[in-house]
Amino acid sequence: MKKRLLTGLQPSGALHLGNYFGALKPFVDLYQDYDSHLMVVDYHALTTIKDPSTLRQNTKDVIRDYLAVGVDPSEAIIFKQSDVPEHTELAWIFECLVTVPFLELAHAYKDKVAKGLEANAGLFNYPMLMAADILLYDTEVVPVGQDQKQHVEYTREAANKFNIAYGDTFSAPKEMILEGVGVIPGTDGTKMSKSYKNTIPLFGTKEEVQKAVMGIVTDSTGERPENVFSIHKLFRPESELVNLYEENKGSYKTLKEALLDDIEKLITPMREKRESITDEEIKSVLKEGAEKARARANAKMVEVRKKIGVTL
Ligand code: TYM
Repeated sequence: MKKRLLTGLQPSGALHLGNYFGALKPFVDLYQDYDSHLMVVDYHALTTIKDPSTLRQNTKDVIRDYLAVGVDPSEAIIFKQSDVPEHTELAWIFECLVTVPFLELAHAYKDKVAKGLEANAGLFNYPMLMAADILLYDTEVVPVGQDQKQHVEYTREAANKFNIAYGDTFSAPKEMILEGVGVIPGTDGTKMSKSYKNTIPLFGTKEEVQKAVMGIVTDSTGERPENVFSIHKLFRPESELVNLYEENKGSYKTLKEALLDDIEKLITPMREKRESITDEEIKSVLKEGAEKARARANAKMVEVRKKIGVTL
């Protein structure tokens, strides 16, 4: 029996190299050795996106990205969170088990409040929806970036709380954060993130990628443009880069062009594949994925509903 693996990405905007190297590529490299699930978590994105056509478009784009980077839908269940209502159902049950102070410590909520912004209740409960995503499928391994570590810890806690209250039902999943890709830096050297506006798009046009790469902040004190180097490391072995950077010491433009070339080499074939994927194909992948995911989620929820006392 293969172990169960699951991950998900929010359709909250165009995917970037941080999403790719931190989560998607690890998934692609591993998924055939596991019983794998890949979601687009549209209800999570609803905490920030209020425009229906944007959500619709982003969701289709993320599925298109999944197929373009090489996930074969016959070897993984690719699905949309909102197609499986058991996710929000189980999230509610977990919300009735964990406390408000516990959720107040979750990063996404805490950061928003620290910035003086008003968080919606969805953002507050966000970790319990993620716990439901993971636990519904008896997931053992969750490939994610470092920023999701706390969420997987919260997931284990939700499982634990449920098991204590109602008896053994959920096993503890483990995050898989691969070395060197846990925190992909953005163009300013801090974590690449949509909200920091420091991203390099995964499937931008050549011009968009070029603009982002040329915008990488280089500090003129060091010998080596570290922000360029640390992104470049994702594309080529460090041993090769050391020579390249030594030969072009101080010539930031040449080094950025070299990085751009390496990015293009990786992305061009995927971009071509992406362009050939039709909306019809996306719909059919999602239809099949929803059926498979619902069958699994429903079986688990039959057990959960009995245990909590809502099945009469
Ligand atoms: P999201 O949509 O913010 O990001 C998707 C994945 O990309 C990773 N990531 C990064 N990794 C390394 N360096 C970066 N700069 C970087 N930026 C993003 C994230 O760690 C993540 O793995 N809550 C999740 C989505 C989610 C989920 C799940 C994930 C919902 N349910 C169940 C796994 C399992 C999120 O907001 O990811």
